[in-house]
Amino acid sequence: MSSPLAIPITVLKFGSSVLRSEADLPTVVHEIYAELRKGHRVLVVPSAFGSTTDDLLAIAKSQTPEPEPRVLARLLATGESTSAALLSLALKRAGICARLIGPESVGLLTEGGYLDAHPISLDLAAVHAAFEAAPVLVLPGFISRRTDGELALLGRGGSDLTAIFVASRIRASRCVLVKDVEGLFEWDPAGSATHPPRRFQNISYGDALGLSGSVVQHKAIRLARDEDLSFEVCGASSLGMEGPTGTIVGSKPSAWAELEAPRYTRLRVGLVGHGTVGAGVLDHLFGASEDFEVAGVLVRDLASHRANFVGTHSPVARYFDELFTTDAREFLDRAPDIVVEVAGGVESVEPLVRTALERGLAVVTANKALMAERGLALHEIAERSGTPLVYSAAVGCSAPLLEAAQRLRGTSVRGFEALLNGTTNFILELLQRGVPLDDAIVESQERGYAEADPTLDLNGTDAAQKVVLLARALFGRDVRLRWGLRQGLESPNLQDLLAEARGAEGQVRMVASCFLEGTASGRTAGPHEAFVEVAPVVLPSGSALAGIQGAGAGVLFALDTPDRSTLLVAGEGAGRWPTSEAVMADLLDLRRSPERFRGIVAGSSSAENTES
Ligand code: NAP
Ligand code: HSE
Repeated sequence: MSSPLAIPITVLKFGSSVLRSEADLPTVVHEIYAELRKGHRVLVVPSAFGSTTDDLLAIAKSQTPEPEPRVLARLLATGESTSAALLSLALKRAGICARLIGPESVGLLTEGGYLDAHPISLDLAAVHAAFEAAPVLVLPGFISRRTDGELALLGRGGSDLTAIFVASRIRASRCVLVKDVEGLFEWDPAGSATHPPRRFQNISYGDALGLSGSVVQHKAIRLARDEDLSFEVCGASSLGMEGPTGTIVGSKPSAWAELEAPRYTRLRVGLVGHGTVGAGVLDHLFGASEDFEVAGVLVRDLASHRANFVGTHSPVARYFDELFTTDAREFLDRAPDIVVEVAGGVESVEPLVRTALERGLAVVTANKALMAERGLALHEIAERSGTPLVYSAAVGCSAPLLEAAQRLRGTSVRGFEALLNGTTNFILELLQRGVPLDDAIVESQERGYAEADPTLDLNGTDAAQKVVLLARALFGRDVRLRWGLRQGLESPNLQDLLAEARGAEGQVRMVASCFLEGTASGRTAGPHEAFVEVAPVVLPSGSALAGIQGAGAGVLFALDTPDRSTLLVAGEGAGRWPTSEAVMADLLDLRRSPERFRGIVAGSSSAENTES
C-alpha cells in the first residue's frame, strides 16, 4: 500500500453536454464526491451550461457582426464563470468543502489571441495552497489570463485544454473528460449508420487527432501527446463504473473495446423513512431516474406526509399515493433491489432490515444506532445472503470517514481523535458565543442536525455509536473496546471548560478518541483492544480539529510513522443534503458494481462487508 499521506489528485472535466443546465448539478456533485471518497483530491473543470457559449455568441453578433475579440472573450467567459460558481454552491449544499479558484488565483497564464490562446504556465504553489484549504477545487474551463492581465479564451472546446494542461502540470493521477458519449467511437454513435460504431478501448494520440475535434479539442490532444499524459473520455453514467467503459487516450496503440460497455438496468430502491434525510434521498432519486426507480416509501404516518405535499409542485406529490405506504410487508413485496433505511431507531427497524437482508436485498442505511448495536449480527446475515450492507452516511455524512478508516486498515495506524456529532459541535459553538442552551438545541433541530430524540446527541450516545463503527472499520470487527469517560453536555465541568476556552481562545468540542491499547498511552494489551472515550474538552486554537466549524465532523488519524504524522479527514457532519449525498454515494457504488449483490458474480463481497 502506498503511503496513506500521498494524496492522489483526479482532474474531472464536465462538458456542456453533461452540464446541460443547473438541474444537472446534483449529478455532477455525486461524481465529484465519488472520487473524493476514494481518498482523492479533485480538481473540477466545468464548461458552460448547455448551449450558453453559442447563445452568448449569437447575442454578441446581434449587436455587431464582428464583435471585438477582447470584449467577446469577456462575454463568453461569463458562461464558465457562472457554471463554476453554481457548482461550488451545489458542492457546499452537499457539505463538500470546495474552493472556487480562477485563472488569476492560480496563475493560469496564456499567450496568443483573445479567443484562441495557448496555456504557458500555472502557479503550482498556488494550486497546492488551495488544496491545503479544500480537497475539491473548481476551476472554470476555457478561461485564462494573458501575461498583460487581460482575459483570454482557449478556443472552441477549450475546457478540454484547461483540464489537460492543469492535469499535466500538477501531475494528476487521473484526468477524465466527462462527455455525453461513452468514450471515443469510430464515428458518431448518434449518426444514422445502419450498424453501431466500435468503441476504442485505447486510442493513440495520432488516431484521436484523426477524429472530429468536436469530441475532444485537437489542441488538447496535441498538448497531452507532447506532455505524454494519458487521459480518459467517458460518459457521466460510466464514470467510476467497474469494467470496460470509456476510452483511454495515450501513447499505446489503438485497440477496440472487446466488450460493449455494460448497460445495467435501473435499480429499484425502497426507501424507509421520509424525514430530514429521507426527503433529501427521495429528491436525489427522482433526479437520478436513469439509474434508479423508486419502488416505494415506507413511513408511519401517511396523513402527515400527504399533508406536506398539498399545494406543492413537487414531483413526489404526483406519485404520492402510488409510492407511500405504511405497510412494511407490502413495501418489501414491491421487490426493491435495495432498501434504504433512513428512519432511525433500533428495535423498530431491525426486523425490516433483517428481512430485507435475508431476502438478498442490498441495504443502505444511515442508522448508526442500529449498526453499532446490531451491526455484527446484520453483517452475518448479509454475508450469508451474499448481499451488501453499507452505511457511509452513518458516520460523518459528507466527510468520508468510514472509507478513510477502511483504507487505513492494516497500516500502522494507532488510533484517532474525532469530532463525530454535528449537533453538539454546533451547540457548543453557540454556547461559547453566549447563546442559551435551549435556544441552541432548537436551532440545531430546525437545521435538521439533531436526532429525533436529541438526548442521544446531547449525552454523547450518538458520538459513542460512531466511534464503535469507526473502530471496527479501522481495526476489524473483532476489536474489543474498553470504555473510559463517556460524557455529553451534561458534563459537570462544561461551564468551566467554556470559560477556559473563552480565556484561551480555544474551542470546546465533544471529542471522541480511540487508540489501540499499548500504543497511545503506554497501556499493554492485545493488538485488537482499544481504549475509547467521548467527552467535551478544550481544543487549543490552531489545532487540527479546532478548525472544524459548525456541524462539521472530522477524524484526525494518528499514524505510526517516524514523525508521528496525522491525517485529517473532515466534512459536514449532519444535515439533509450532506447525509443524502453519502447515501447516494453508497447507492451509486452499488449501481456501478452490480456484481456486489444479488449474486450477479458468485462469491463477491464488498469491502464494507468484510472490513467493518
Ligand atoms: P427524521 O427526520 O426523524 O425522519 C425519520 C423518518 O422515518 C420519518 O419519515 C418517520 O416517519 C420515518 N420512520 C421512523 N420510524 C419508522 C419506522 N419504524 N417505519 C417506517 N418509517 C419510520 O430522522 P432523520 O434526521 O431523517 O434521520 C433518519 C436516520 O438517519 C437516523 O438513523 C439518523 O440517525 C440518521 N442520520 C441523520 C442525519 C441527520 O443529519 N439528520 C445524519 C446522519 C444520519 P413518520 O414521520 O411517519 O413518523
Ligand atoms: N444527529 C447527528 C449529529 C446526525 O448531529 O451528528 C449525523 O449523524
